[in-house]
Amino acid sequence: MPATDNLVEVDNVNFAYDRRQILKGVNLDIRRGRVVAIMGLSGCGKTTLLRLIGGALRPTRGEVRVDGQSVAELSH
Ligand SMILES: Nc1ncnc2c1ncn2[C@@H]1O[C@H](COP(=O)(O)OP(=O)(O)O)[C@@H](O)[C@H]1O
Ligand SMILES: [Mg+2]
Repeated sequence: MPATDNLVEVDNVNFAYDRRQILKGVNLDIRRGRVVAIMGLSGCGKTTLLRLIGGALRPTRGEVRVDGQSVAELSH
């Protein structure tokens, strides 16, 4: 049985490159099996959000979970 109905959970995430805040209080649930588009102006943080979901970046606050597991706590 799956750990959660959501494959991806972005929970109150902040992210900054150095001191430049890019994401603030982002919440996003992506249900298993759904196709979701992330839309926004150039530079608004779409690629940064994908990098947080993929584990290439870590949130400065909040948590990203994939399949119920905290991405920041996973090994490479
Ligand atoms: N490695 C980085 N270091 C510093 N700032 C970055 C870096 N990557 C992206 N940025 C800045 O973060 C903001 C969001 O970028 P990005 O997530 O690539 O936006 P999008 O994919 O929505 O166009 C932009 O202002 C961009 O200039
Ligand atoms: Mg981009």
